[in-house]
Amino acid sequence: MIPLSSRRFERVGAHSHILGLGVRDGEPLLVADGFVGQIEARRAAWVVVQMIKQGKMAGRGILLAGPPGTGKTALAVAIARELGEDTPFVAISGSEIYSTELKKTEVLTRALRSAIGVRVREYRRVYEGMVKKLEVKFDRHPYNPWIQVPVEGSITLKTTNDERTFTIDGSIVAEMLEKGVNEGDIVWIDEETGRVHKVGRAQSAERRYDLSSSRLVELPKGPILKDKEFVRTLTLYELDLMQSRGSAIFSLLLGGMEEREISIEVRRSVDEAVKKWVDEERADLLPGVLFIDDVHMLDIEAFSFLSRAMESELAPILILASNRGFAKIRGTDYESPHGMPLDLLDRLLIIETRPYTKDEIREILKIRANEEKVELEDDALERLTEVGVEKSLRYAVQLLTPAKVLATQRKAQRVSVQDIETAADLFVSVKESAVHLKQYEEAFLK
Ligand SMILES: Nc1ncnc2c1ncn2[C@@H]1O[C@H](COP(=O)(O)OP(=O)(O)OP(=O)(O)O)[C@@H](O)[C@H]1O
Ligand SMILES: [Mg+2]
Repeated sequence: MIPLSSRRFERVGAHSHILGLGVRDGEPLLVADGFVGQIEARRAAWVVVQMIKQGKMAGRGILLAGPPGTGKTALAVAIARELGEDTPFVAISGSEIYSTELKKTEVLTRALRSAIGVRVREYRRVYEGMVKKLEVKFDRHPYNPWIQVPVEGSITLKTTNDERTFTIDGSIVAEMLEKGVNEGDIVWIDEETGRVHKVGRAQSAERRYDLSSSRLVELPKGPILKDKEFVRTLTLYELDLMQSRGSAIFSLLLGGMEEREISIEVRRSVDEAVKKWVDEERADLLPGVLFIDDVHMLDIEAFSFLSRAMESELAPILILASNRGFAKIRGTDYESPHGMPLDLLDRLLIIETRPYTKDEIREILKIRANEEKVELEDDALERLTEVGVEKSLRYAVQLLTPAKVLATQRKAQRVSVQDIETAADLFVSVKESAVHLKQYEEAFLK
Protein backbone atom coordinates (compact mmCIF):
# COMPACT_ATOMS: atom_id res chain seq x y z
CA MET A 1 0.00 0.00 0.00
CA ILE A 2 1.28 3.41 -0.85
CA PRO A 3 0.22 6.48 1.08
CA LEU A 4 0.60 8.81 -1.82
CA SER A 5 1.39 11.87 0.18
CA SER A 6 5.00 10.76 0.43
CA ARG A 7 5.62 8.44 -2.53
CA ARG A 8 2.93 9.66 -4.76
CA PHE A 9 3.93 8.72 -8.26
CA GLU A 10 6.48 5.96 -7.86
CA ARG A 11 4.33 3.17 -9.17
CA VAL A 12 3.02 5.04 -12.17
CA GLY A 13 6.08 5.49 -14.34
CA ALA A 14 3.95 4.46 -17.30
CA HIS A 15 1.72 7.47 -16.64
CA SER A 16 4.38 10.10 -15.98
CA HIS A 17 3.15 12.08 -18.99
CA ILE A 18 -0.30 12.53 -17.46
CA LEU A 19 -0.34 15.91 -15.74
CA GLY A 20 -4.06 16.35 -15.25
CA LEU A 21 -7.43 15.91 -16.93
CA GLY A 22 -6.71 18.54 -19.58
CA VAL A 23 -9.99 20.37 -18.91
CA ARG A 24 -10.31 24.12 -19.42
CA ASP A 25 -13.49 25.94 -18.36
CA GLY A 26 -15.23 22.62 -17.81
CA GLU A 27 -14.49 21.35 -21.33
CA PRO A 28 -11.88 18.66 -22.02
CA LEU A 29 -9.45 19.68 -24.78
CA LEU A 30 -8.67 17.03 -27.40
CA VAL A 31 -5.01 16.96 -26.36
CA ALA A 32 -3.95 18.58 -23.09
CA ASP A 33 -1.98 17.79 -19.92
CA GLY A 34 -0.64 14.68 -21.70
CA PHE A 35 -4.17 13.31 -22.12
CA VAL A 36 -5.50 12.45 -25.58
CA GLY A 37 -9.15 11.83 -26.51
CA GLN A 38 -11.38 9.80 -24.16
CA ILE A 39 -13.38 13.01 -23.93
CA GLU A 40 -16.57 11.69 -22.30
CA ALA A 41 -14.69 9.87 -19.56
CA ARG A 42 -12.51 12.91 -18.89
CA ARG A 43 -15.53 15.17 -18.65
CA ALA A 44 -17.14 12.78 -16.15
CA ALA A 45 -13.90 12.55 -14.17
CA TRP A 46 -13.75 16.33 -14.05
CA VAL A 47 -17.26 16.46 -12.56
CA VAL A 48 -16.12 13.92 -9.97
CA VAL A 49 -13.15 16.13 -9.08
CA GLN A 50 -15.49 19.10 -8.55
CA MET A 51 -17.76 16.98 -6.35
CA ILE A 52 -14.78 15.84 -4.28
CA LYS A 53 -13.54 19.40 -3.90
CA GLN A 54 -16.98 20.53 -2.77
CA GLY A 55 -17.10 17.71 -0.22
CA LYS A 56 -20.09 16.06 -1.90
CA MET A 57 -18.52 12.69 -2.61
CA ALA A 58 -17.60 11.24 0.78
CA GLY A 59 -18.75 7.67 1.15
CA ARG A 60 -19.57 7.35 -2.53
CA GLY A 61 -17.82 5.48 -5.26
CA ILE A 62 -16.82 5.51 -8.89
CA LEU A 63 -16.11 2.60 -11.19
CA LEU A 64 -13.86 3.10 -14.21
CA ALA A 65 -14.85 0.36 -16.63
CA GLY A 66 -13.32 -0.35 -20.01
CA PRO A 67 -11.09 -2.68 -22.05
CA PRO A 68 -7.37 -3.04 -21.24
CA GLY A 69 -5.15 -0.12 -22.21
CA THR A 70 -7.94 2.44 -22.54
CA GLY A 71 -6.59 4.78 -19.90
CA LYS A 72 -8.42 3.79 -16.69
CA THR A 73 -5.31 3.95 -14.54
CA ALA A 74 -4.26 7.08 -16.42
CA LEU A 75 -7.62 8.67 -15.50
CA ALA A 76 -7.15 7.85 -11.83
CA VAL A 77 -3.67 9.39 -11.93
CA ALA A 78 -5.10 12.51 -13.57
CA ILE A 79 -7.80 12.79 -10.88
CA ALA A 80 -5.10 12.58 -8.19
CA ARG A 81 -3.15 15.35 -9.89
CA GLU A 82 -6.23 17.56 -10.17
CA LEU A 83 -7.00 17.14 -6.47
CA GLY A 84 -3.60 18.48 -5.48
CA GLU A 85 -1.28 17.72 -2.60
CA ASP A 86 -3.77 18.46 0.13
CA THR A 87 -6.25 15.70 -0.61
CA PRO A 88 -4.94 12.26 0.33
CA PHE A 89 -4.87 9.85 -2.61
CA VAL A 90 -4.01 6.21 -1.95
CA ALA A 91 -3.59 3.68 -4.76
CA ILE A 92 -3.57 -0.07 -4.33
CA SER A 93 -4.13 -2.97 -6.66
CA GLY A 94 -6.79 -5.54 -5.83
CA SER A 95 -4.14 -8.24 -5.47
CA GLU A 96 -2.35 -6.34 -2.70
CA ILE A 97 -4.89 -7.42 -0.09
CA TYR A 98 -3.50 -10.95 -0.11
CA SER A 99 -0.63 -10.69 2.33
CA THR A 100 0.81 -13.41 4.53
CA GLU A 101 1.12 -11.13 7.54
CA LEU A 102 -2.13 -9.26 7.59
CA LYS A 103 -5.78 -10.10 7.22
CA LYS A 104 -7.43 -8.84 4.04
CA THR A 105 -9.73 -6.59 6.01
CA GLU A 106 -6.76 -5.13 7.89
CA VAL A 107 -5.00 -4.24 4.61
CA LEU A 108 -8.19 -2.61 3.36
CA THR A 109 -8.80 -0.77 6.61
CA ARG A 110 -5.30 0.67 6.50
CA ALA A 111 -5.79 1.77 2.93
CA LEU A 112 -9.15 3.35 3.75
CA ARG A 113 -7.75 5.17 6.78
CA SER A 114 -4.67 6.37 4.89
CA ALA A 115 -7.08 8.05 2.49
CA ILE A 116 -8.61 10.28 5.16
CA GLY A 117 -6.65 13.32 6.21
CA VAL A 118 -7.06 15.26 9.43
CA ARG A 119 -5.77 18.80 9.41
CA VAL A 120 -4.95 19.56 13.02
CA ARG A 121 -4.42 23.05 14.38
CA GLU A 122 -2.16 23.21 17.36
CA TYR A 123 -1.12 26.22 19.44
CA ARG A 124 2.38 26.33 20.89
CA ARG A 125 4.01 29.00 23.04
CA VAL A 126 7.08 30.26 21.22
CA TYR A 127 9.65 33.03 21.40
CA GLU A 128 9.74 34.61 18.00
CA GLY A 129 11.77 37.46 16.61
CA MET A 130 14.81 38.61 14.69
CA VAL A 131 18.14 37.64 16.23
CA LYS A 132 19.63 41.01 17.09
CA LYS A 133 22.55 39.62 19.01
CA LEU A 134 23.83 36.09 19.56
CA GLU A 135 26.69 35.39 21.92
CA VAL A 136 28.04 31.90 22.47
CA LYS A 137 30.34 30.68 25.19
CA PHE A 138 32.51 27.69 24.30
CA ASP A 139 34.33 25.33 26.61
CA ARG A 140 36.44 22.23 26.20
CA HIS A 141 34.74 19.00 25.40
CA PRO A 142 34.69 16.89 28.60
CA TYR A 143 36.38 13.90 26.89
CA ASN A 144 38.34 15.56 24.13
CA PRO A 145 40.38 18.62 25.11
CA TRP A 146 40.99 19.61 21.47
CA ILE A 147 37.35 20.11 20.70
CA GLN A 148 35.42 23.17 21.76
CA VAL A 149 31.73 22.77 22.47
CA PRO A 150 29.13 25.46 23.08
CA VAL A 151 28.02 25.43 26.71
CA GLU A 152 25.70 28.40 26.93
CA GLY A 153 24.85 31.67 25.30
CA SER A 154 22.67 34.66 25.22
CA ILE A 155 20.32 35.84 22.55
CA THR A 156 18.54 39.12 21.94
CA LEU A 157 15.30 38.81 19.98
CA LYS A 158 13.48 41.75 18.44
CA THR A 159 10.06 42.33 16.93
CA THR A 160 8.61 45.60 15.64
CA ASN A 161 7.67 46.62 19.18
CA ASP A 162 9.44 44.30 21.61
CA GLU A 163 13.00 43.39 22.42
CA ARG A 164 14.23 40.91 25.03
CA THR A 165 17.46 39.17 25.93
CA PHE A 166 17.54 35.56 27.17
CA THR A 167 20.23 33.24 28.41
CA ILE A 168 20.09 29.90 26.61
CA ASP A 169 21.54 26.51 27.42
CA GLY A 170 24.13 24.51 25.49
CA SER A 171 21.69 22.32 23.57
CA ILE A 172 19.74 25.28 22.19
CA VAL A 173 22.99 27.01 21.25
CA ALA A 174 24.18 23.84 19.52
CA GLU A 175 20.94 23.63 17.53
CA MET A 176 21.27 27.28 16.51
CA LEU A 177 24.81 26.70 15.27
CA GLU A 178 23.79 23.56 13.45
CA LYS A 179 21.03 25.44 11.64
CA GLY A 180 23.40 28.29 10.84
CA VAL A 181 21.44 30.94 12.72
CA ASN A 182 23.07 34.36 12.33
CA GLU A 183 22.31 37.83 13.51
CA GLY A 184 19.59 39.22 11.26
CA ASP A 185 17.77 35.85 10.93
CA ILE A 186 14.22 35.36 12.09
CA VAL A 187 13.73 32.37 14.37
CA TRP A 188 11.29 30.90 16.78
CA ILE A 189 12.10 28.77 19.82
CA ASP A 190 9.50 26.44 21.29
CA GLU A 191 9.05 27.30 24.95
CA GLU A 192 8.43 23.75 26.09
CA THR A 193 10.96 21.76 24.06
CA GLY A 194 13.56 24.39 23.16
CA ARG A 195 13.34 23.38 19.50
CA VAL A 196 14.69 26.06 17.20
CA HIS A 197 13.25 26.88 13.80
CA LYS A 198 14.87 29.26 11.37
CA VAL A 199 12.20 31.06 9.37
CA GLY A 200 14.40 33.14 7.08
CA ARG A 201 16.26 36.40 6.95
CA ALA A 202 14.75 39.73 8.00
CA GLN A 203 14.13 42.01 5.04
CA SER A 204 15.60 44.91 6.95
CA ALA A 205 18.79 43.03 7.93
CA GLU A 206 22.09 43.63 6.24
CA ARG A 207 22.77 41.17 3.37
CA ARG A 208 25.55 38.77 4.28
CA TYR A 209 25.74 37.33 0.76
CA ASP A 210 24.80 38.54 -2.69
CA LEU A 211 23.07 35.24 -3.35
CA SER A 212 21.55 33.13 -0.64
CA SER A 213 18.95 30.44 -0.24
CA SER A 214 17.43 32.12 2.82
CA ARG A 215 13.93 33.37 2.40
CA LEU A 216 13.38 37.07 3.07
CA VAL A 217 10.70 37.65 5.68
CA GLU A 218 9.11 40.60 7.42
CA LEU A 219 10.04 41.47 10.96
CA PRO A 220 7.38 39.86 13.23
CA LYS A 221 4.96 42.14 15.04
CA GLY A 222 3.75 42.07 18.66
CA PRO A 223 5.31 40.52 21.75
CA ILE A 224 8.23 38.08 21.58
CA LEU A 225 6.53 35.36 23.63
CA LYS A 226 3.30 34.41 21.89
CA ASP A 227 0.89 31.61 21.04
CA LYS A 228 1.56 30.50 17.50
CA GLU A 229 -0.74 28.37 15.38
CA PHE A 230 0.71 25.31 13.68
CA VAL A 231 -1.18 23.30 11.11
CA ARG A 232 -0.31 19.68 10.40
CA THR A 233 -2.06 17.20 8.18
CA LEU A 234 -2.03 13.58 9.29
CA THR A 235 -4.01 10.62 8.08
CA LEU A 236 -6.24 8.50 10.29
CA TYR A 237 -3.79 5.64 9.72
CA GLU A 238 -0.89 7.74 10.99
CA LEU A 239 -2.94 8.68 14.05
CA ASP A 240 -3.72 4.97 14.63
CA LEU A 241 -0.01 4.19 14.56
CA MET A 242 0.86 7.01 16.94
CA GLN A 243 -1.91 6.01 19.29
CA SER A 244 -1.02 2.34 19.33
CA ARG A 245 2.65 3.10 19.81
CA GLY A 246 1.80 5.38 22.68
CA SER A 247 -0.23 2.73 24.40
CA ALA A 248 2.27 -0.06 23.80
CA ILE A 249 5.82 1.18 24.13
CA PHE A 250 7.18 -2.35 23.81
CA SER A 251 6.00 -2.73 20.28
CA LEU A 252 8.12 0.28 19.37
CA LEU A 253 11.22 -1.15 21.00
CA LEU A 254 10.73 -4.53 19.41
CA GLY A 255 9.87 -3.10 16.02
CA GLY A 256 7.61 -4.99 13.69
CA MET A 257 4.76 -2.59 14.33
CA GLU A 258 3.81 -2.54 10.68
CA GLU A 259 2.99 -6.23 10.66
CA ARG A 260 0.86 -6.22 13.76
CA GLU A 261 -2.80 -5.59 13.71
CA ILE A 262 -4.06 -2.34 15.07
CA SER A 263 -6.75 -3.07 17.62
CA ILE A 264 -10.33 -1.94 17.29
CA GLU A 265 -10.00 -0.04 20.57
CA VAL A 266 -7.14 2.03 19.20
CA ARG A 267 -9.09 2.92 16.09
CA ARG A 268 -12.18 3.73 18.08
CA SER A 269 -10.29 6.05 20.40
CA VAL A 270 -8.65 7.77 17.40
CA ASP A 271 -12.07 8.24 15.77
CA GLU A 272 -13.49 9.69 18.95
CA ALA A 273 -10.56 12.05 19.43
CA VAL A 274 -10.84 13.23 15.82
CA LYS A 275 -14.58 13.85 16.10
CA LYS A 276 -13.98 15.82 19.30
CA TRP A 277 -11.29 17.96 17.63
CA VAL A 278 -13.62 18.65 14.73
CA ASP A 279 -16.44 19.65 17.12
CA GLU A 280 -14.07 21.94 18.98
CA GLU A 281 -12.91 23.37 15.65
CA ARG A 282 -9.34 22.31 16.27
CA ALA A 283 -9.27 20.06 13.22
CA ASP A 284 -10.79 19.64 9.76
CA LEU A 285 -11.46 16.37 8.02
CA LEU A 286 -10.10 15.94 4.50
CA PRO A 287 -11.77 12.92 2.92
CA GLY A 288 -9.43 11.72 0.20
CA VAL A 289 -9.56 9.03 -2.43
CA LEU A 290 -8.84 5.32 -2.24
CA PHE A 291 -8.17 3.98 -5.73
CA ILE A 292 -8.33 0.20 -6.17
CA ASP A 293 -7.01 -0.91 -9.54
CA ASP A 294 -7.90 -4.37 -10.97
CA VAL A 295 -10.81 -4.58 -8.61
CA HIS A 296 -11.84 -8.04 -9.88
CA MET A 297 -8.89 -9.37 -7.85
CA LEU A 298 -10.84 -8.66 -4.64
CA ASP A 299 -12.97 -11.47 -3.23
CA ILE A 300 -16.49 -11.59 -1.84
CA GLU A 301 -15.33 -10.91 1.74
CA ALA A 302 -13.38 -7.87 0.62
CA PHE A 303 -16.32 -6.58 -1.40
CA SER A 304 -18.80 -6.85 1.45
CA PHE A 305 -16.29 -5.22 3.76
CA LEU A 306 -15.95 -2.33 1.32
CA SER A 307 -19.73 -1.90 0.99
CA ARG A 308 -19.96 -1.61 4.74
CA ALA A 309 -16.97 0.72 5.00
CA MET A 310 -18.58 3.10 2.52
CA GLU A 311 -21.48 3.61 4.92
CA SER A 312 -19.32 4.55 7.87
CA GLU A 313 -19.00 8.16 9.00
CA LEU A 314 -15.31 8.45 8.25
CA ALA A 315 -15.17 7.05 4.73
CA PRO A 316 -13.02 8.16 1.81
CA ILE A 317 -14.14 8.32 -1.79
CA LEU A 318 -13.72 5.01 -3.54
CA ILE A 319 -12.51 4.81 -7.14
CA LEU A 320 -12.39 1.33 -8.61
CA ALA A 321 -11.13 0.17 -12.00
CA SER A 322 -12.00 -2.99 -13.90
CA ASN A 323 -11.31 -4.33 -17.38
CA ARG A 324 -13.59 -7.37 -17.02
CA GLY A 325 -17.01 -7.53 -18.60
CA PHE A 326 -18.57 -10.49 -16.85
CA ALA A 327 -16.50 -12.52 -14.43
CA LYS A 328 -16.88 -14.80 -11.44
CA ILE A 329 -16.82 -13.00 -8.14
CA ARG A 330 -13.78 -14.44 -6.38
CA GLY A 331 -14.73 -16.77 -3.58
CA THR A 332 -18.11 -17.62 -5.16
CA ASP A 333 -19.51 -19.41 -8.21
CA TYR A 334 -21.51 -16.39 -9.29
CA GLU A 335 -20.86 -14.52 -12.48
CA SER A 336 -21.57 -10.83 -12.35
CA PRO A 337 -20.73 -7.61 -14.22
CA HIS A 338 -17.06 -6.66 -13.67
CA GLY A 339 -16.72 -9.56 -11.21
CA MET A 340 -18.34 -7.44 -8.51
CA PRO A 341 -21.41 -8.06 -6.33
CA LEU A 342 -24.51 -6.16 -7.42
CA ASP A 343 -25.13 -4.43 -4.10
CA LEU A 344 -21.73 -2.75 -4.37
CA LEU A 345 -22.20 -1.95 -8.08
CA ASP A 346 -25.48 -0.27 -7.19
CA ARG A 347 -23.68 2.29 -5.08
CA LEU A 348 -21.21 3.31 -7.77
CA LEU A 349 -21.27 5.86 -10.54
CA ILE A 350 -19.79 4.21 -13.60
CA ILE A 351 -17.45 5.92 -16.05
CA GLU A 352 -16.78 4.05 -19.29
CA THR A 353 -13.55 4.19 -21.28
CA ARG A 354 -13.58 3.27 -24.97
CA PRO A 355 -10.95 1.85 -27.32
CA TYR A 356 -8.92 4.47 -29.19
CA THR A 357 -9.08 5.49 -32.82
CA LYS A 358 -5.97 5.33 -34.97
CA ASP A 359 -5.39 9.09 -34.68
CA GLU A 360 -5.65 8.96 -30.90
CA ILE A 361 -3.19 6.07 -30.74
CA ARG A 362 -0.73 8.05 -32.89
CA GLU A 363 -1.07 11.07 -30.58
CA ILE A 364 -0.54 8.99 -27.42
CA LEU A 365 2.52 7.30 -28.95
CA LYS A 366 3.97 10.72 -29.82
CA ILE A 367 3.56 11.89 -26.23
CA ARG A 368 5.04 8.67 -24.81
CA ALA A 369 8.00 8.82 -27.23
CA ASN A 370 8.65 12.35 -26.13
CA GLU A 371 8.39 11.35 -22.47
CA GLU A 372 10.84 8.46 -22.93
CA LYS A 373 13.14 10.62 -25.06
CA VAL A 374 12.80 8.40 -28.11
CA GLU A 375 13.01 10.17 -31.47
CA LEU A 376 10.99 8.51 -34.20
CA GLU A 377 11.22 8.91 -37.96
CA ASP A 378 7.83 9.79 -39.44
CA ASP A 379 7.22 6.42 -41.07
CA ALA A 380 8.38 4.67 -37.88
CA LEU A 381 5.65 6.48 -35.96
CA GLU A 382 3.20 5.41 -38.65
CA ARG A 383 4.28 1.76 -38.40
CA LEU A 384 4.11 1.86 -34.60
CA THR A 385 0.61 3.33 -34.81
CA GLU A 386 -0.46 0.41 -36.98
CA VAL A 387 1.01 -1.98 -34.42
CA GLY A 388 -1.02 -0.18 -31.76
CA VAL A 389 -4.20 -0.63 -33.78
CA GLU A 390 -3.58 -4.28 -34.66
CA LYS A 391 -2.17 -5.54 -31.36
CA SER A 392 -2.65 -3.11 -28.48
CA LEU A 393 -1.73 0.38 -27.39
CA ARG A 394 0.20 -0.91 -24.41
CA TYR A 395 2.24 -3.24 -26.65
CA ALA A 396 3.10 -0.39 -29.02
CA VAL A 397 4.17 1.80 -26.08
CA GLN A 398 6.36 -1.00 -24.80
CA LEU A 399 8.18 -1.35 -28.13
CA LEU A 400 9.52 2.22 -27.86
CA THR A 401 12.45 1.44 -25.59
CA PRO A 402 13.73 -1.73 -27.32
CA ALA A 403 13.45 0.07 -30.68
CA LYS A 404 15.53 2.89 -29.27
CA VAL A 405 18.18 0.40 -28.08
CA LEU A 406 18.32 -1.06 -31.61
CA ALA A 407 18.68 2.41 -33.15
CA THR A 408 21.49 3.32 -30.76
CA GLN A 409 23.23 0.07 -31.61
CA ARG A 410 23.43 1.04 -35.27
CA LYS A 411 24.56 4.49 -34.14
CA ALA A 412 21.42 6.24 -35.33
CA GLN A 413 19.76 9.14 -33.54
CA ARG A 414 16.26 8.30 -34.61
CA VAL A 415 14.27 5.10 -34.59
CA SER A 416 13.46 3.79 -38.09
CA VAL A 417 10.71 1.51 -39.42
CA GLN A 418 13.23 -1.33 -39.43
CA ASP A 419 13.94 -0.84 -35.70
CA ILE A 420 10.21 -1.08 -35.00
CA GLU A 421 9.91 -4.24 -37.12
CA THR A 422 12.90 -5.86 -35.43
CA ALA A 423 11.64 -4.96 -31.96
CA ALA A 424 8.22 -6.43 -32.83
CA ASP A 425 9.93 -9.64 -34.01
CA LEU A 426 12.01 -9.93 -30.86
CA PHE A 427 9.15 -9.23 -28.49
CA VAL A 428 5.85 -10.73 -29.45
CA SER A 429 2.50 -9.40 -28.28
CA VAL A 430 0.22 -11.27 -25.92
CA LYS A 431 -2.06 -12.25 -28.80
CA GLU A 432 0.82 -13.89 -30.65
CA SER A 433 2.36 -15.61 -27.62
CA ALA A 434 -0.99 -17.09 -26.62
CA VAL A 435 -1.64 -18.46 -30.13
CA HIS A 436 1.90 -19.84 -30.22
CA LEU A 437 1.50 -21.76 -26.97
CA LYS A 438 -1.92 -22.99 -27.99
CA GLN A 439 -0.39 -24.65 -31.06
CA TYR A 440 2.10 -26.46 -28.79
CA GLU A 441 -0.62 -27.57 -26.43
CA GLU A 442 -2.54 -29.06 -29.32
CA ALA A 443 0.58 -30.85 -30.54
CA PHE A 444 1.07 -32.39 -27.08
CA LEU A 445 -2.48 -33.61 -26.88
CA LYS A 446 -2.27 -35.53 -30.11
N1 LIG B 1 -6.06 9.02 -23.42
C1 LIG B 1 -4.77 8.84 -23.14
N2 LIG B 1 -3.89 9.84 -23.30
C2 LIG B 1 -2.58 9.64 -23.02
N3 LIG B 1 -2.06 8.49 -22.59
C3 LIG B 1 -2.90 7.46 -22.41
C4 LIG B 1 -4.29 7.58 -22.68
N4 LIG B 1 -4.88 6.39 -22.42
C5 LIG B 1 -3.91 5.56 -22.04
N5 LIG B 1 -2.72 6.18 -22.02
C6 LIG B 1 -1.42 5.57 -21.68
O1 LIG B 1 -1.41 4.28 -22.30
C7 LIG B 1 -0.94 3.28 -21.39
C8 LIG B 1 -2.03 2.26 -21.08
O2 LIG B 1 -3.14 2.89 -20.40
P1 LIG B 1 -3.65 2.48 -18.93
O3 LIG B 1 -2.61 1.70 -18.21
O4 LIG B 1 -4.16 3.69 -18.25
O5 LIG B 1 -4.84 1.53 -19.33
P2 LIG B 1 -5.87 0.75 -18.40
O6 LIG B 1 -7.22 1.08 -18.92
O7 LIG B 1 -5.59 1.02 -16.97
O8 LIG B 1 -5.55 -0.76 -18.78
P3 LIG B 1 -5.72 -2.10 -17.88
O9 LIG B 1 -7.16 -2.48 -17.93
O10 LIG B 1 -4.88 -3.10 -18.60
O11 LIG B 1 -5.24 -1.80 -16.49
C9 LIG B 1 -0.45 4.03 -20.17
O12 LIG B 1 0.91 4.33 -20.34
C10 LIG B 1 -1.30 5.28 -20.19
O13 LIG B 1 -0.68 6.32 -19.48
MG1 LIG C 1 -4.86 -0.14 -15.40
